[in-house]
Amino acid sequence: MAFPIHRPRRLRRTEPLRRLVRETHIAPAQLVLPLFVRGGTNVRRPIDAMPGVAQTSVDEMLRDAERAATHGVGGVLLFGIPEHKDATGTEAWADDGPVQRAVRALKRDLPDLVVITDVCLCEYTDHGHCGVLANGDVDNDATLELVAREAVSHARAGADIVAPSDMMDGRVAAIRRALDADGRAHTPILSYAAKYASVFYGPFREAAESTPRSGDRRGYQMDPSNAREALHEVALDLDEGADAVMVKPAGPYLDVIARVRRATRVPLAAYQVSGEFAMIHAAAERGWLDGDRAMMESLTAIRRAGADIIITYFAIDAAARLR
Ligand code: PBG
Repeated sequence: MAFPIHRPRRLRRTEPLRRLVRETHIAPAQLVLPLFVRGGTNVRRPIDAMPGVAQTSVDEMLRDAERAATHGVGGVLLFGIPEHKDATGTEAWADDGPVQRAVRALKRDLPDLVVITDVCLCEYTDHGHCGVLANGDVDNDATLELVAREAVSHARAGADIVAPSDMMDGRVAAIRRALDADGRAHTPILSYAAKYASVFYGPFREAAESTPRSGDRRGYQMDPSNAREALHEVALDLDEGADAVMVKPAGPYLDVIARVRRATRVPLAAYQVSGEFAMIHAAAERGWLDGDRAMMESLTAIRRAGADIIITYFAIDAAARLR
């Protein structure tokens, strides 16, 4: 019983029909905008490969966050650029660090915008790795206490969610223990559970000034060839107490998003990273793609694969189109 009885085109004939049978929707409340915060006032330093994205001081950051809130964007994800870097990244847990000050300002001015903080040492260490070094290698266990301290400091400032992205083994448990010991049993952990060693982070490292001075991150981030391993990472993080998990990057890893979606019941976030954003902009600038449509199609694909939350530099533009 196929053609001519079955004609799938019948339901595609008009936009109202297509709308009626549409399977995937994106709500602005599911989008999260990453922000890069540094010291000073009135500072706005554009990032070359990320049109419209800038490092800003807290006052300028508030303007971007307010624009996001006005468009119904669900939350922001904060990255800090410290004044001074050192071997252990001590500014990561400074009470007056850029992220801590940004969180306080956001919770004061825009209490309904969810504030997520990226918990990692790479922006704060002078060598640019996500953990402390011992004999030229990233020392997993010595790093745990430091990222836990950073997470507690973010939570004390008022962060709604902390999101560890360092890919050290055992960090979720270490952070959970530290938060609970600090009387913050209610602070959720969104774990970057399946984070790949990806070339698509290139523009971000300019934005966050976090390029490793030597070597790369392949000793702790995942091999792009592995998908089963992502399920293992997710299972371990959930065991350790993660409240939600993330797959990153998003677009080139839709299969991983779909597999994690099927394997878990917790909220799943996907991070459309800087390189994915830059590629769409670069092609649009040359007139090779319709940038707005590429933006919406890429986000729809990430939702269709199973992501509940999408972290994207397009958050404001996409939300504006969804209204
Ligand atoms: C590490 C971190 C990175 C990104 C988010 N958190 C970069 C890295 O691991 O090198 C990448 C985000 C992006 O490319 O947009 N703290």
